[in-house]
Amino acid sequence: MVLLRSVCVLLVCISLSVKIYADNKKMRIRLKPAHLKEENLKSLLEKRHSQRNFQQTSLNLDDLATLVWATCGKKFDALTSATRTIPSAGATNPLELFIVVGKNSVEGLEEGVYHYLIEEHSLELVVEGDRRLRLSRACLGQDFIEKAPVSLIISADFRRTTNRYGARGRQYVYMEAGHACQNTYLVATSLGLGTVEVGAFVNEEVKSALDLDENYCPLSVMPVGYTK
Ligand SMILES: Cc1cc2nc3c(=O)[nH]c(=O)nc-3n(C[C@H](O)[C@H](O)[C@H](O)COP(=O)(O)O)c2cc1C
Repeated sequence: MVLLRSVCVLLVCISLSVKIYADNKKMRIRLKPAHLKEENLKSLLEKRHSQRNFQQTSLNLDDLATLVWATCGKKFDALTSATRTIPSAGATNPLELFIVVGKNSVEGLEEGVYHYLIEEHSLELVVEGDRRLRLSRACLGQDFIEKAPVSLIISADFRRTTNRYGARGRQYVYMEAGHACQNTYLVATSLGLGTVEVGAFVNEEVKSALDLDENYCPLSVMPVGYTK
């Protein structure tokens, strides 16, 4: 009976094709590959604007997968053997991406804070519950953050880069975060979504809103959604 129930649960998971359980504690969601359409770069650059007027409309999980991949995902380039969508000083790859997902904000995803597992192109649920209000307060009360269905929080472990480059490494990490932000802007635009880079926040409050590991420093908050 127990075996039969386990098989049934497994079949349901496979049919949904999103939820896998790596261990008993943390839920992982395997994402589909990014689905970017061919687009004229000039028109994307022309269309990009900071957007702050978000609708409550939920996002599609495949669009979120495309966004997180574009922000700092893994790729394979046979010519240069570069492995990320963004350049990284000495390929030290200091960035880590977290996603705050609101209630009923992404089809097929519970509200919570997710960590984007770059190597696996998966999301790992690290905190349950809707943390948008806390995030918005940590960003000096910029209330469009509470309304946006999701926010990407580009964060870094500075040690990965400063261990190699010393104090200069800090500058490299900020440069890398800028690359990630611009990718988010352009790909959100391509998907018909809006975003804005938010740099005005209290680091410790963002860390607390997300229950971030003490070695991760938030660098940019990017609320994303359909705009009015
Ligand atoms: C480093 C940085 C920090 C920013 N911080 C904020 C912010 O905290 N809140 C906000 O509403 N916009 C923020 N912005 C967005 C700018 O206000 C916006 O890019 C600027 O007004 C130009 O508009 P555009 O992006 O539509 O061209 C930030 C932009 C950058 C590059």
